[in-house]
Amino acid sequence: RGMYSPMEQVCGRVKSISSILDKAQKKNIEVDKIEEQLDDIAGIRIICQFVEDIEKVADLIQKRSDIEIKSEKDYIRHMKDSGYRSYHLIVYYTVETMNGPKRIQVEIQIRTMAMDFWASLEHQLRYKSDVEIPEHVSDDLKKCADVIAETDQEMQRIAKELKVL
Ligand code: GTP
Ligand code: MG
Repeated sequence: RGMYSPMEQVCGRVKSISSILDKAQKKNIEVDKIEEQLDDIAGIRIICQFVEDIEKVADLIQKRSDIEIKSEKDYIRHMKDSGYRSYHLIVYYTVETMNGPKRIQVEIQIRTMAMDFWASLEHQLRYKSDVEIPEHVSDDLKKCADVIAETDQEMQRIAKELKVL
């Protein structure tokens, strides 16, 4: 309708078979329980501009009749020790397959561009680093997350002052 959208960008992925098997092994999940116990084989990430948009998007998802919420995690009100912030939903969604309708679980991550910036870089650094991240580096990453959280709040305050939000 040409209205302001609380969603800046949406992307999705299906976990690769090797990642599924790696995770199942790490978590001691039997092969025939993978579908039920691995709740993030299908993943959707919704990127917002402002922190307040996240709640609006979560409400939109909650209202949909084709989606059933299984669980929610609010890592924005309760930032993880790492500094990670995002709103997570595990939902049930029925997809049409060659064998008929199938109810699958999907992990939906909702976050601001700033939260996404931190999470992407932190993930890459952990992934690319050959060594275990030392404690002082984890502390530095957490400090970056704190600065980013402050900036997120400040940008939202400015948007409100300009009556954009
Ligand atoms: P797993 O599914 O085994 O990861 O455990 P969980 O369901 O308790 O995890 P959680 O809901 O905390 O996180 C699920 C997803 O959020 C992860 O697969 C990552 O994509 C993301 N995530 C969680 N914590 C971090 C973090 O500290 N840094 C980054 N970059 N991403 C994180
Ligand atoms: Mg999970």
